[in-house]
Amino acid sequence: MSMLSRLGQVRRCAATLTPVLGTVAARWKHSLPDLTYDYGALEPHINAEIMQLHHSKHHATYVNNLNVTEEKYQEALAKGDVTAQVSLQPALRFNGGGHINHTIFWTNLSPNGGGEPQGELAAAINRDFGSFQALKDKMSAATVAVQGSGWGWLGFDRESGKLRITACPNQDPLQGTTGLVPLLGIDVWEHAYYLQYKNVRPDYVKAIWNVINWENVSERLQAAKK
Ligand SMILES: [Fe+2]
Repeated sequence: MSMLSRLGQVRRCAATLTPVLGTVAARWKHSLPDLTYDYGALEPHINAEIMQLHHSKHHATYVNNLNVTEEKYQEALAKGDVTAQVSLQPALRFNGGGHINHTIFWTNLSPNGGGEPQGELAAAINRDFGSFQALKDKMSAATVAVQGSGWGWLGFDRESGKLRITACPNQDPLQGTTGLVPLLGIDVWEHAYYLQYKNVRPDYVKAIWNVINWENVSERLQAAKK
């Protein structure tokens, strides 16, 4: 077969694949997850105005931009345009990370949260940090210290079987950039606290422990161990 007829065959395949990819892309469009509590339900620790803007505007923007980026990525894949694929990666990391991180964050919070973790999670915290208070102190310090915008994380290291505390810049997703499985994330972008706490990030981080959903964190640990 000549090179030209081979190219023709590839083009025909690409032409028949494009609608299929389009269908797949449409089917897999990401959407903003509903919260299981009202915007005002975390008051007085996080006020309703922050929650409404954070969920319906900020998270929604990550979702929309992720869908746009994935659509462009599908087009680049279909064309075999590696340059375009590479140039889309920062947008994929930022908006994909933003969607992943916020989706976890909403479930990490609950109006019935706070208190202390129980069961296996509590045992793992005591084993790896010494005490619950030590975990809170260490994670608060790492989270407050994030330079600019980012997240503090409690993650599970599948290789060692241990819990780890770390921080990620911007919207870098924990698992995609460090390999740790995310259990609990604290968003310290200013959009997460500025309307209520102004520039006093430590007060916001101190308050958020009152609404942490430890049941959700425990479920994530169980799932990470499988
Ligand atoms: Fe955020």
